[in-house]
Amino acid sequence: MTAGEEERAVDLTVIVPTFNEAGNVEELVRRVTASVGAHRAEILFVDDSSDGTELEVARVALTAMLPVRVIHRDVPEGGLGGAVLLGMREARADTCVVMDGDLQHPPEKIPEIVERLHQGDVQIVVASRYVGSGTSAGLADATRRMISRGSNLVTRAMFPVRLRRVTDPMTGFFGIDRSRLDLETLRPRGFKILLEIIVRTPLRVAEVPFDFADRFAGASKASLRQGVWFLQQLTMLRFGKMSAYALIGAVGAVANVAIVWALTALGMGYLWAAIVAAEVTIVGNFLLAEHFVFRDLRGQARAFWRRFAISFTFNNVESAVRIPIMAVMVERLGMASPVATAITLAVAFLVRFTFHSLVVYAPRNDVRETRSVRT
Ligand code: GDD
Ligand code: MN
Repeated sequence: MTAGEEERAVDLTVIVPTFNEAGNVEELVRRVTASVGAHRAEILFVDDSSDGTELEVARVALTAMLPVRVIHRDVPEGGLGGAVLLGMREARADTCVVMDGDLQHPPEKIPEIVERLHQGDVQIVVASRYVGSGTSAGLADATRRMISRGSNLVTRAMFPVRLRRVTDPMTGFFGIDRSRLDLETLRPRGFKILLEIIVRTPLRVAEVPFDFADRFAGASKASLRQGVWFLQQLTMLRFGKMSAYALIGAVGAVANVAIVWALTALGMGYLWAAIVAAEVTIVGNFLLAEHFVFRDLRGQARAFWRRFAISFTFNNVESAVRIPIMAVMVERLGMASPVATAITLAVAFLVRFTFHSLVVYAPRNDVRETRSVRT
């Protein structure tokens, strides 16, 4: 077999991000090799170390039974998340399993993750500490466990739909079908690459339980700075969409005024001009939001015309309700009309955004079911 053929024959890439894990490499390669016998696997280290981990990988690779590669980065862009992404880009197989380099993630779980992935109904398999028989005993101490639990809850509350059935979106141990992932849509920063993938793509997820073990050697790289990055990431993921939606709303408002102006200038009555302008901007906003805001959710949502019908109905009802409420605020409560307008528009914006995220672009029932966990 030529070198090229051999390259193509790899059917599983185990991606291991490392930062100063020299003491773990040999043991990790040994245990991965022992567990992936059924596959033509390769191990790909993506390394940002300063302790010579990459030399240790090169040394171990010489005697390994599997192809073992290392990519060493001098500029560790995106930290751990960036390393994982690069690993997925450079993997020779589409089936990728990502795991930590300190053996807190037991390599013996890899075959089960791959098997679940190959059932074909999901594209991500999360190894979870919080489902079935999984445990998180290996987390350093009670504080670390509490932070992990707490941030887990907050995150799941922020993405109730997408994470409905994902109990451990922060794990660094998961399998993924790379061919179904658009790597360009991801903006990794710090530790939580899986969360990024789940929230930004429509890929379906299943979970398998695992026991989070103690470190084999070395020390954890989790830090306060990672915590801050994580909060930034949550904000971007949650409110990035919202800002884009707000921008489109603003464009719509300007268009609305311009259309009314143009139509009345052409001699149309004010009321008719306002109605035409409102309907045109409702349709325009829907199309823009489809394209720029909710693009990643379309694949698993209902069909285009049903989304349009729901959105169109909602917006018409919303305007019909908003205008009399505004009248009451001005006439009965004596509010200045710009204030009343601003308040009702702000509330309407939040309601509209929430309704579109959770209802118009909600996953179809068949998608929801297959995304669930069966272990
Ligand atoms: N390439 C690269 N670059 N690897 C890194 C970096 C980095 O900047 N920072 C950490 N790593 C590697 C470590 O070498 C290790 O293999 C893995 O990423 C996880 O880092 P640990 O330092 O062992 O983190 P942890 O055990 O505290 O965190 C684990 O639990 C978290 C959830 O509680 C990991 O599984 C995280 O992924 C997970 O989010
Ligand atoms: Mn660790």
